[in-house]
Amino acid sequence: MSIEGHPVRYSQSTITELMVPAYANFGGKIHGGTLLSLMDKVAYVCASKHAGNYCVTLSVDNVHFLQPVEVGDLVSMMASVNYVGRTSLVVGIKVIAENVQTATVKHTNTSYFTMVAKGPDGMKAEVPPLILEDEEAIRRFASALRRRRLRAYAVKRMENYKASFSADDNVRAFLAGERCEIRLGVNNHRT
Ligand SMILES: CC(C)(COP(=O)(O)OP(=O)(O)OC[C@H]1O[C@@H](n2cnc3c(N)ncnc32)[C@H](O)[C@@H]1OP(=O)(O)O)[C@@H](O)C(=O)NCCC(=O)NCCS
Repeated sequence: MSIEGHPVRYSQSTITELMVPAYANFGGKIHGGTLLSLMDKVAYVCASKHAGNYCVTLSVDNVHFLQPVEVGDLVSMMASVNYVGRTSLVVGIKVIAENVQTATVKHTNTSYFTMVAKGPDGMKAEVPPLILEDEEAIRRFASALRRRRLRAYAVKRMENYKASFSADDNVRAFLAGERCEIRLGVNNHRT
């Protein structure tokens, strides 16, 4: 029996939270880990709503905090399902920080959480298809598929690189100009 699909809007979710002093790091800005935890929460809300099941986080892509978030900012995390596979789904999360006194809004990052649905038996569960109702939804789905393929290609290339690695002249040329010095045999102790 095929599962009935849901449009993107069915599971779109937003969390808004006030950045209190307890969330700050030693520099007085909001801790990246606090933002990641909130992002994970909204990704779960969105993914589990679409899936109709419990979901777990498999991976997180594109976490670059482009601008600092300040204590007192109102942070909103807007989550949409971008892509669905058979048991996995990608949730795109746009994070903005708003200073209510100056009425300024900063876009701090957009990240992508890959989640996997689990059924009541704890096994991976099929997710409903995604109904794409506008051009933006099509662009996001195609972009997620492209990112997934590019990542798979990069992973394969890195595996081959590691498997055949030797610190030969090519590698030395590759490292020229980098902030490292090769001093083989100086210290072979492992801690
Ligand atoms: C997520 C988890 C269930 C995947 O289990 P698995 O048996 O390795 O899964 P599979 O290889 O069958 O893949 C399941 C889905 O994830 C996708 N997937 C697996 N590895 C992937 C990767 N590196 N990138 C993108 N998708 C990936 C697969 O394509 C598949 O999706 P599909 O069914 O839509 O095609 C398992 O790794 C797990 O339980 N991880 C811990 C999750 C967790 O606890 N997270 C909280 C943070 S600690």
